[in-house]
Amino acid sequence: MDREAAGRRFRERLEHVAQATESMLDRLLSTNTLPGESARPPRLVEAMRYVALGGGKRLRPFLVIETARLFGCEDEGALRTGAALEMIHCYSLVHDDLPAMDDDDLRRGRPTAHRAFDEATAILAGDALLTYAFDVIADPLTHPDPAVRSELVLKLARASGLGGMVGGQVLDLAAEQKSEQHTEAAVRQLQAMKTGALLLYAVNAGAILGGADEKQSVALSRYGAALGAAFQIADDILDEEGDEAALGKRAGKDAGRNKATLVAALGLDAARKRRDMLAQQAIAALKDGGFGARGAVLAEAAHFTVERQS
Ligand code: IPE
Ligand code: IPE
Ligand code: MG
Ligand code: MG
Ligand code: MG
Repeated sequence: MDREAAGRRFRERLEHVAQATESMLDRLLSTNTLPGESARPPRLVEAMRYVALGGGKRLRPFLVIETARLFGCEDEGALRTGAALEMIHCYSLVHDDLPAMDDDDLRRGRPTAHRAFDEATAILAGDALLTYAFDVIADPLTHPDPAVRSELVLKLARASGLGGMVGGQVLDLAAEQKSEQHTEAAVRQLQAMKTGALLLYAVNAGAILGGADEKQSVALSRYGAALGAAFQIADDILDEEGDEAALGKRAGKDAGRNKATLVAALGLDAARKRRDMLAQQAIAALKDGGFGARGAVLAEAAHFTVERQS
């Protein structure tokens, strides 16, 4: 497949996954209770739906689903896992935007959750999305084999929490207070945690669902790690030079907040080079995995990560 055809295929698949994810989230986030639940407060459901529906690129579900598809797995389990991961991602955005964190008022082209509702509701909607994600994956509907479900749950916990996304957010906020220059090593680590961990999980979850062998899993992990690193550098570059209307979030905020980004540590030019090199590394890892033409859509996702305007 040439780049143009692969690009078209990628956009079609991303659009398809975005729609499927939207309808799965819509079904999951209803006021109907599940066995063991007492009641679902309508205002909480409303806030969860506000943050989870109607926006976002849905790149994480895309990576779960397309990685599983490399192995011929097109089960609903991949969609449920992708939707669960998207819930965690959405919760991370809600909390990231709170006044105590990045203090943002615009997300996905709309007022942030704490602006549209109130801070307590935003915090609790985030908490409920986080918990619900594990419910969705642990449900036998996601996979008939309890060992597969528990591997998906365990890896998601590790990627999301203390040593993953949450830990990275703590390092990100701590770095704002530093008076000395941000080092490249520190930026790399905090970005691998706050953003890389969930993107890497997406690829790993797809590999688990697809039944990847050892060599394939290693190659896909290298792909996911490089893509995750490139993704946050691209986010930082877009903050510096992107367009607020296209981004759907405020631009130009990181420098004023002394955020630890590669743009701050190395400058825009070097950050662009590193972003592009990481995308090439991601594509090279797919080649090493031996996926051949089947890897074209994932390779295109690496191009998209660096070329995107939003
Ligand atoms: C934004 O993520 C936050 C980061 C981890 C950089 P996305 O750029 O994937 O945001 P949405 O989901 O498309 O809104
Ligand atoms: C956020 O990074 C990473 C998360 C874990 C949510 P940013 O703070 O740079 O994300 P944006 O720019 O607000 O989307
Ligand atoms: Mg942040
Ligand atoms: Mg932010
Ligand atoms: Mg940002």
